[in-house]
Amino acid sequence: MFLISLAVIHIVCLILLILYCRLTVGICKCSKHLYGKVVIVTGANSGVGFETAKDLAARGARLILACRNEERGTTAREKIVSATGNNDVHYRHLDLASLASVRKFAADIIKNEKRVDILINNAGIFYVDNIKTEDNLFVGMQTNHFAPFLLTSLLLPLLKSSAPSRIINVASTSYMRSKIDFENLNMELENKDTYTCHKAYCMTKLCNVYTTLELDRRLRGTGVTVNCLHPGFVDTNIVTTIQWPLFRFIKPVVRLTMKSAWEGAQTSIYLAVAPELENVSGHYFSDCRERGLTKKAQDVDIAKKLWEVSESLVKLK
Ligand SMILES: *[C@@H]1O[C@H](CO)[C@@H](O)[C@H](O)[C@H]1NC(C)=O
Repeated sequence: MFLISLAVIHIVCLILLILYCRLTVGICKCSKHLYGKVVIVTGANSGVGFETAKDLAARGARLILACRNEERGTTAREKIVSATGNNDVHYRHLDLASLASVRKFAADIIKNEKRVDILINNAGIFYVDNIKTEDNLFVGMQTNHFAPFLLTSLLLPLLKSSAPSRIINVASTSYMRSKIDFENLNMELENKDTYTCHKAYCMTKLCNVYTTLELDRRLRGTGVTVNCLHPGFVDTNIVTTIQWPLFRFIKPVVRLTMKSAWEGAQTSIYLAVAPELENVSGHYFSDCRERGLTKKAQDVDIAKKLWEVSESLVKLK
């Protein structure tokens, strides 16, 4: 009898959790069109990035899909063109694990585009070994922080001349589990036993938050806004690759609490189009609502120092 009531209580809690997750999903209801606007989305070939790009293309924008893999990038382009009827969608090669590739991509945009109205730094990786890129930076930090930092910096003049324009950084609530260790930004102090991709990922996401705050400070009065967001717990490739043995059994239930890629894209879309956000900058959002940041994540000195260290590591100065 006791065991049965225990089981019932667990099932009821689970159903309530699933209902809570389903009912709190924020959906962007704004129907604003984007004719004449140029939008760049990184990592637009799949998941949240693909859904974000598709929605913005449906609003009439000129879309640049910045992805590493040409085949996947051009396939995504074809799907978006046929779903939206917008032919002004283009694949451009961008490999964030190479700063030379970031520079080449940015130079190509500056040469060929008259404007950039919206830049969405969406691409990110989770499962990554502690290895170095050709730039001698830890591959996780480079893909999730240093490369988007460089890309944004290189495109700033064009974003400023296109103002009002918006920069959107896809972070994650995982930022809360981290703190910046300036002695160990590139995971040099980690060994096989201490390194985990989770630890590395959380630090990169905290870097996205600090970068958003510092960039906001630097952009005051330019008409360019910058905000960051948590897309939610989204059912994408990342989840498919979770390898814990137990996870296989609970996955079908966990899936019910997760967002689809379309739902995960809603906050990025909201930040890109909502007219009421025209002058809103330096904030963190989730489910299409502004959320507070932890006190630690609002430390302006750390944000400023991270900016300066990043500038020197990507050889911007
Ligand atoms: C944003 O600021 C500009 C200039 O101060 C103002 O004209 C505009 O109404 C503001 N927009 C919103 C949505 O508050």
